[in-house]
Amino acid sequence: MLDLARRALANAHAPYSRFRVGACIRAGSGRLYAGCNVENAAYPVGQCAEATAIGAMVAAGDRQIVEAVIVTEGAEPCSPCGRCRQQLAEFARPDARVHLCGPEGVRATTTLGELLPLAFGPDTLGPPGARAGGPIDP
Ligand code: THU
Repeated sequence: MLDLARRALANAHAPYSRFRVGACIRAGSGRLYAGCNVENAAYPVGQCAEATAIGAMVAAGDRQIVEAVIVTEGAEPCSPCGRCRQQLAEFARPDARVHLCGPEGVRATTTLGELLPLAFGPDTLGPPGARAGGPIDP
């Protein structure tokens, strides 16, 4: 996973921040999906490495993340941003392990539950049939 994340990092498109990120997620099927950050001249349009990896996973038909590796090149371990935590929570249980890595290897290991306690997730909405819906009375 570390190697795939490193290889994705090498392909990062980060000309604006010069902060390259690589990610690799392991799905319940055992398949691995890597991604890098993809920045944009319109800055807010940029995409994080985790989102790229999650998109590849979903496109391939997997829906469960059991483990994630995130690699950066800075001196400090890089923790996933808030948006990425929410995106991971869509597909991962709180006990899913998240490894924060530098190029040399794992610097810290945490869980999604530690990164995003009291998460708003798919279960919060309840089963589709139980949701409020229908037309709103004028
Ligand atoms: N970035 C990620 O790819 N993942 C994160 O969890 C944090 C931030 C990217 C976004 C942007 O391209 C660069 O790092 C600097 O914020």
